[in-house]
Amino acid sequence: MAQQGNFKSPARMGTLGGGASLSSSGSLSSGKPREEGIGGVDFERRSFLGKVVGGIGAAVAVSTLYPVISYIIPPANTAKSVNELVVGKAAEVPEKSGKIYQFNKDKVIVVNDNGRLTACSAVCTHLGCLVHWDNSLNLLACPCHGATYKQTGEIIAGPQPLPLPVFKVKVVGEDLVITKA
Ligand code: FES
Repeated sequence: MAQQGNFKSPARMGTLGGGASLSSSGSLSSGKPREEGIGGVDFERRSFLGKVVGGIGAAVAVSTLYPVISYIIPPANTAKSVNELVVGKAAEVPEKSGKIYQFNKDKVIVVNDNGRLTACSAVCTHLGCLVHWDNSLNLLACPCHGATYKQTGEIIAGPQPLPLPVFKVKVVGEDLVITKA
């Protein structure tokens, strides 16, 4: 059985005040219009999802590229260069021995030859290997290609083109102090 009392025909709806009315095209003419395009696609929702996906993509790209870029472009070295530095204790270099210390960006070998302290670069001027003090021969020797230097850095023999750069060294109290020459 048809319910006739509550049925609202289009003609009757047009006469009702306050309610939504149908236009001739069949769409609602009052209330908040919904942005719908062709085929009922909700462009507002699609735009929101596009932004979310784009944001996630950007976050993934940044988290992937940041380590790569920071590897390629290392941070600037902010370490300050000093003229004089306490590198250790004098007792660390007993007689007839040598010990390598870091001094600013340089590796410096301090040699104690029977109480005579000297310091020069520990980096061989041939191809950059580290030299050591050979007490039996009383010289600095490079293990890579046989370069030899005097305790004070001058060339004795070998393929190296230059002597070892010299530094100053002194003992202050118990401390060993290296200074730029
Ligand atoms: S690097 Fe020292 S002799 Fe070659």
